[in-house]
Amino acid sequence: MRIDILTLFPEMFQAVLGQSMLKLAREKELVSYHLWNIRDYTLDKHKKVDDRPYGGGPGMVMTPEPVFRAIEEVERDDSEPARKVLLTPQGERFTQSTAEALSREKRLMLVCGHYEGFDERIRQGFDFLEISIGDYVLSGGETPAMVVIDAVVRLVPGVLGDEDSPEVESFKNGLLEYPQYTKPREFRGLKVPDVLISGHHERIQQWREDQAQERTRIKRPDLLKRPGPKTVSR
Ligand code: ADE
Repeated sequence: MRIDILTLFPEMFQAVLGQSMLKLAREKELVSYHLWNIRDYTLDKHKKVDDRPYGGGPGMVMTPEPVFRAIEEVERDDSEPARKVLLTPQGERFTQSTAEALSREKRLMLVCGHYEGFDERIRQGFDFLEISIGDYVLSGGETPAMVVIDAVVRLVPGVLGDEDSPEVESFKNGLLEYPQYTKPREFRGLKVPDVLISGHHERIQQWREDQAQERTRIKRPDLLKRPGPKTVSR
């Protein structure tokens, strides 16, 4: 998968893309990251990328010219057409199922805004999937883009080893994950449940299913109301 990131702050991505799973995915050549600075595409002699909103009001709005030029030129950098994503609090809520759908794309282009928002013609000019990572306003689309990249890249086949398969994790089957324990069997008086040490696979599976149901009911009852299966994978 090729991921193009259009931003006014490409340096913000270096640390996140250069560590851990996202770095490993690149080293395995399963993904490539391409950072582009929107400011490089302005025709303005002062390299201006924002301006005051027509009609008045607070803050600054991203001007269409550099964003249009950046998207068009980056698109041409590869013959594979890019699925374009605009990070915005107005977008549809990002979920695990959106991450799964995006992980099947060959090429993603993530467009990060800054300031109060985008000139509306940017939305009109392209066929974007608009994504919000939650109902709060951040200072820009950069941290949301990192969230999307992390959630998507770990689902690209081969990125995680078999042992870390994403099959059993929270949300995959509409439920939160069951409680997990590792060594030691007792820590500061807190014990690992006997069933997990029993070696009895059916009882362990039943316990995990019950725990996942119960946790979801208590912590995230909204998930139980969503359509789709509610199972714990085996
Ligand atoms: N840009 C600013 N806030 C955002 C959010 N919550 N999600 C996506 N992009 C954003």
